[in-house]
Amino acid sequence: MNIYPIPDKSREGTNCTNEEYLKLYEASVRSPDEFWGDQARKRLDWFKDFTKTSELDYHKADIKWFLGGEINVSYNCIDRHIKAGKGDHAAIIWENDAGTFSRSYTFNEVLAEVCKIANVLKTQGVKKGDRVVIYMGMIPQLAFTMLACARIGAIHSVIFGGFSQDAIRTRVLDSQARVVVTVDEGMRAGKPVSLKHTVDKGIEDVDIIDRVFVFKHTGAAINMRSGRDVFIDELLETAASTCEAERMQSEDPLFILYTSGSTGKPKGVLHTQAGYLLYASMTHRYVFDIREEDVYFCAADIGWITGHSYIIYGPLANGTTTVMFESTPLYPDASRYWKMIEKYKVNVFYTAPTAIRSLVKAGDEHVKKHDRSSLRVLGTVGEPINKDAWVWYYRTVGEEKCAIVDTWWQTETGGIMIAPLPAANGTKPGSATRPFFGIQPVIVDEAGNEITDPDVSGKLCIKHSWPGQMRTVYGDHERFMKTYFADFPGKYFTGDGAHYDKDGYFWIEGRVDDVLNVSGHRFGTAELESALISSGLAAEVAIVGFPHDIKGEAIYAYVILKDNVESDETTRKNMKLHIKESIGGVAVPDVVQFVPGLPKTRSGKIMRRVLRKIAAGEREQFGDITTLAEPEIVQKIVAGSIKA
Ligand code: PRX
Repeated sequence: MNIYPIPDKSREGTNCTNEEYLKLYEASVRSPDEFWGDQARKRLDWFKDFTKTSELDYHKADIKWFLGGEINVSYNCIDRHIKAGKGDHAAIIWENDAGTFSRSYTFNEVLAEVCKIANVLKTQGVKKGDRVVIYMGMIPQLAFTMLACARIGAIHSVIFGGFSQDAIRTRVLDSQARVVVTVDEGMRAGKPVSLKHTVDKGIEDVDIIDRVFVFKHTGAAINMRSGRDVFIDELLETAASTCEAERMQSEDPLFILYTSGSTGKPKGVLHTQAGYLLYASMTHRYVFDIREEDVYFCAADIGWITGHSYIIYGPLANGTTTVMFESTPLYPDASRYWKMIEKYKVNVFYTAPTAIRSLVKAGDEHVKKHDRSSLRVLGTVGEPINKDAWVWYYRTVGEEKCAIVDTWWQTETGGIMIAPLPAANGTKPGSATRPFFGIQPVIVDEAGNEITDPDVSGKLCIKHSWPGQMRTVYGDHERFMKTYFADFPGKYFTGDGAHYDKDGYFWIEGRVDDVLNVSGHRFGTAELESALISSGLAAEVAIVGFPHDIKGEAIYAYVILKDNVESDETTRKNMKLHIKESIGGVAVPDVVQFVPGLPKTRSGKIMRRVLRKIAAGEREQFGDITTLAEPEIVQKIVAGSIKA
């Protein structure tokens, strides 16, 4: 396959040429401690220098970086830039859902907002190490609240605004949070989203929450439970706008973010202070080749790791102006992104393949009517990008002048692991190309042997550690060890399949475990199955993914109904509604098929391969099904299959 060359625009003023990449990469894997130690001292401000760069025991999944060091993340994201004379520089530009209002906050203003919230949290009893659940939608107060937690050493756990009350409940209970911060309503594509109401339902019978802080956003009338709920804006009016940043140990927790795995229960991915911040900021600087005056726009939601690392922590640690918006790519129409790019003269834009595909569908005229000459780098993340979408991004959006950076990483990795650097390597559509500094990806076979031949698929693992790596599953270290380190001892197992080609470029092939990637959102099949079972309507459920033009992967549910339940449209609707209420709208299956049985082997294991084929439209070729207890069930399922 042809390599798309480095665009001229990317070369001028770059932070990293190919020669520099090769030199730094070599140094980073030859002596990781020396490399990361140097970077940590150069790029972060420390209250107290660290005494040891790393202490790693992969067999116990015990990972520590920058031991003995003391640091504060919010200080590094705000105060130090002010000290360097950037106080009046724009830190966050926020645009509302309708696109009718925007506001730019300088670093000075961000500091004042963050300190006020930090003081309110403190006076209300929130202490270092306390967990604070945040459920707010994309408003600037969300960014301020996260940074306020970081300032006082509280551990934030942000929940995506599209998740339901049950998701809130399980996350509050798992993290044992005492405090929730929310907002009266969010706005999304012109519609209010009743966030406070959802919090109320989520914590109805949860007695560990003693404070719910509510920001006013739409001003809608909401219920306030006396003694528990307070309007934070009123407290902020009198709060002091300075607050000393807490001295945190490098390995103190910074945040928990829940993500789906292959079991029924989402896991609390825990990231710590210094290593995470160093990794998020360094990857942000190099992968997007950030320049001093850049305006940077990541269109992700802060409820996901991309928003944490690349709307808040990475860009702000680098003193970069970061654009945050409340809406969706298609609201009020498909020109939203391009209009914002023109308006704010965005230099670097970062979005997901699913958004790109929906914009391709909407037509080129939306893109073309807006000036995009400020753009230099276009990023993508969340799932493999298909060639057509990549080429459209490159030609139509970037007019062949911008570097496309396809960035592979995970909630667990904290930051980008495999991606091109704009001025260091040419690109191939669909390949995340080469590893970042310090990252040693290997492809292994089932037995754990490293595959050294190009073009042979296997499982993607990472040798050695990197500072941004998650440290544990909150409250369940055993699960952390089992999930990531047990299958291939001495390596971190990613859950993805991949291969590399003869040029050493990596190609990610998608998950090899029971995790689906729907529009870039992660769901475990077991999690979806148990949610459907809890509807009380199903006796047994099997969920698989199938290819979808826009979402990448969509959800297909095979359901054996309980004896007394009607197999009609009402039941189907109720099941979908149940998923919406127990997880969220993004998890609703595209197809629910009622089946008389499931294809099981004699030992009782569901043959998902057959179900995946049926969901993808296959009617005849199922390979070897002789080990099935009842092979005839396959044709019965085919007969009732539904085309999405
Ligand atoms: O399967 C990979 C896919 O998304 C998974 C991680 O999902 P999550 O933790 O939600 O984080 C998404 C944002 C970082 C990975 O295991 N994935 C992510 N980026 C890519 C990707 N697959 C292919 N190419 C990518 N660029």
